[in-house]
Amino acid sequence: MKIELIENKIFINRGDSKEEIHPFWLRERLDGEEFLDKGTQQRLFDPSSMNCEVAVEKAKISDGFIEINFNDGASSRIDLNKLASEFSNKDTVIKSINKIKWDSTLKNVKNFEYKDNFFESKEMHDLLVSFYQYGFVIIKNVPTEDNFIVKFANSIGSVRRTNFGEHFNVRSKLNPNDLAYTTLHLTPHTDNPYRNPVPCIQLLHCIENEVSGGFSTLVDGYTVTENLKKDDPETYKVLSEVKVRFRFTDKNVVLEDWSELIHLDEEKNFKQVRFSPRLDYVPILEKNKLDFYYKARKKLSDLYNSEKNRIEFKLEPKDLMMMDNYRVLHGRTKFDPEEGKRFLQGCYIDFDSTEGKLRHLKRKFNL
Ligand SMILES: [Fe+2]
Repeated sequence: MKIELIENKIFINRGDSKEEIHPFWLRERLDGEEFLDKGTQQRLFDPSSMNCEVAVEKAKISDGFIEINFNDGASSRIDLNKLASEFSNKDTVIKSINKIKWDSTLKNVKNFEYKDNFFESKEMHDLLVSFYQYGFVIIKNVPTEDNFIVKFANSIGSVRRTNFGEHFNVRSKLNPNDLAYTTLHLTPHTDNPYRNPVPCIQLLHCIENEVSGGFSTLVDGYTVTENLKKDDPETYKVLSEVKVRFRFTDKNVVLEDWSELIHLDEEKNFKQVRFSPRLDYVPILEKNKLDFYYKARKKLSDLYNSEKNRIEFKLEPKDLMMMDNYRVLHGRTKFDPEEGKRFLQGCYIDFDSTEGKLRHLKRKFNL
């Protein structure tokens, strides 16, 4: 990719094609002191209010910069590397990390170890890359005092508060408003499918765990649904087209949102799974359509609940797990509260937290 200059017209040469760059596109990117605030890197002028009929009067390329004089009197030197980075139109940080498919055979995923200055370290960068690859990550030795999970979340980005509070305590209690707060076996599910938007990432911090049961289980919704797309496209299609209603009620709130169980992006690629059989309501459709839908949902449920797709492990005190709630389903095996204490704390953050942190660390360490 190269920037070329021909008679005051500026071109981008991609090897197999050459296109003129609109002069106003370049005018918008002027970065001299009078155009750009150096501290914030925010514009000091408003291009949306300007006449876009602007032309290049004079231009010169030298030493990795292009110097341009426009016919409205503005002029500037623009860094060619900075310009080139804009031509892909794609996110080059998050989307460039390929998801790794996994099932019960998953082995040797790196655990990370909490230490001082963790959040500004190269280790944190590697942790976030691993999180985007696998959809979850475990950090050992995270302090447990004073609801440290909230500090942890706020050191990556910002806690996403919900009606369960800034953080929630997972232990069995009397009259629970959610099955999480019981000792029951929890089948694989994603959290809070009834919210708009659904919280992106769940953090779960083990404070105490003295029971022999209560294992954590994880299933990769990405792997399961990508395999389903290949093996049974009709089932995949109906699950990615029919929207169901998710609903949560308690005495203070009624939360409701509609979504497909497999939600795709504009290019029909994986974006999000929601699955919580305690909380979903299928719409009324023609009987034969519903017949097919129910079979499809059962097939997906069987895959999510299959041992082949599940990993199972015990969280030890001070372990903190981060899970992509749009990708990974979680659950737990039942436990006997007579054996001892089991106490976990949870909270949510959104993707802006992990994305913003990862871009910052890439910039910081020049990665
Ligand atoms: Fe949950």
